[in-house]
Amino acid sequence: MAERTPILPLYPNRGLSLVGGEGAYLIARDGSRYLDLMSNYGASLLGQAHPAVTAALRGQLGGLVTLHGSFGNDLRLRASMALLRRLPLPSAELCWLNSGTEAIEAALKFAIQASGRRRFIACTGGYHGKTLGALAVTHAGKYRALFDGLLLPVDHVPFGVAASVEAAITTETAAVIVEPIQGEGGVQVPPDGYLGELREICTARDVLLIVDEIQTGCGRTGTFTVSEREGIEPDILCLGKGLAGGVPIGVAAVGATVAERVTRGIHTSTFGGNPLAAAGVLATLSILTPELLARVERLGAEWRESLTALGVEVRGRGLMVGVVLPGRQDQLLKELQLERVLAIPAGEDVIRFLPPLIVGEAELERGTEALRASLRKRE
Ligand SMILES: Cc1ncc(COP(=O)(O)O)c(C=O)c1O
Repeated sequence: MAERTPILPLYPNRGLSLVGGEGAYLIARDGSRYLDLMSNYGASLLGQAHPAVTAALRGQLGGLVTLHGSFGNDLRLRASMALLRRLPLPSAELCWLNSGTEAIEAALKFAIQASGRRRFIACTGGYHGKTLGALAVTHAGKYRALFDGLLLPVDHVPFGVAASVEAAITTETAAVIVEPIQGEGGVQVPPDGYLGELREICTARDVLLIVDEIQTGCGRTGTFTVSEREGIEPDILCLGKGLAGGVPIGVAAVGATVAERVTRGIHTSTFGGNPLAAAGVLATLSILTPELLARVERLGAEWRESLTALGVEVRGRGLMVGVVLPGRQDQLLKELQLERVLAIPAGEDVIRFLPPLIVGEAELERGTEALRASLRKRE
């Protein structure tokens, strides 16, 4: 029997203890440095110990760390206005939470309240979190089976096929929820124009569109959101991961037509919008300049090209990258770790790279070389 620790073993065990970090490196107990090409599933968006983020969080730690949403707070207001300026939802209002799955919970509840309907359409391969609401729209049976009968009614339709969404809409449908690029589902990029088509269908059929940009957002793909790149205005847009510089965060941005039907108290959270997270949001947004986002786009395109030259299928946009390696994912992740390069899985067959957006060209090149070496060992 595996040795138990005081922590419930819910996660795969990577066999590596990390104690520190600096930029795009994580530091193990023995002092060895690992190149971080996964940024904690996207949460360490700007790497470890970014000076401006650290200064902002440190400064806030000396003052108000948390403050209930029933009290006003200038910092929370400033963070909200700064975020809204970056979103393609004119006159949206924000529901601040503490994780991605919570943002999805809120989005689903608001959609039910605003539409008066209770059924959702989500995509096969989709991932939206594991709390019971979010789990209903998440697709993988291995997470859902135990809770069959307890979940919201959801129709899962093939990702990337707008016509399948149109066909699934009924008079009971409250909303369609979609990731612009599927992360967990294997870094799946849909056909051009997919989000736009979904927007048109949802508008024509009077169904809400929830866009889950928890993984694709905050500049990960080279624009602040993919919705902005695609020129669409979701009814609700969810963000999370690295938005607050690595401290827990989730937010649902709610468009005006939904917001005006949401009633006080229908969703709240003690820690939602806490000043520590707000300070992290303000610092993060100030670092995500148009120049940095353009760099993400360029670096990502160049890197995907150099990975493709290894003779593997590469998918993604910006610095959200998947390398398709059927049957070899697990072993190659281990090989990369032996080369002191950290990546994560996506689905069963894909290695996912989510480097911090501050990563350097030389570091990405080292990632390519580590993958080359790992692939050779397996030949
Ligand atoms: C697209 C997407 N939605 C929702 C979530 C859930 O976020 P969290 O793990 O912060 O609850 C994730 C997490 O990976 C995600 O990638």
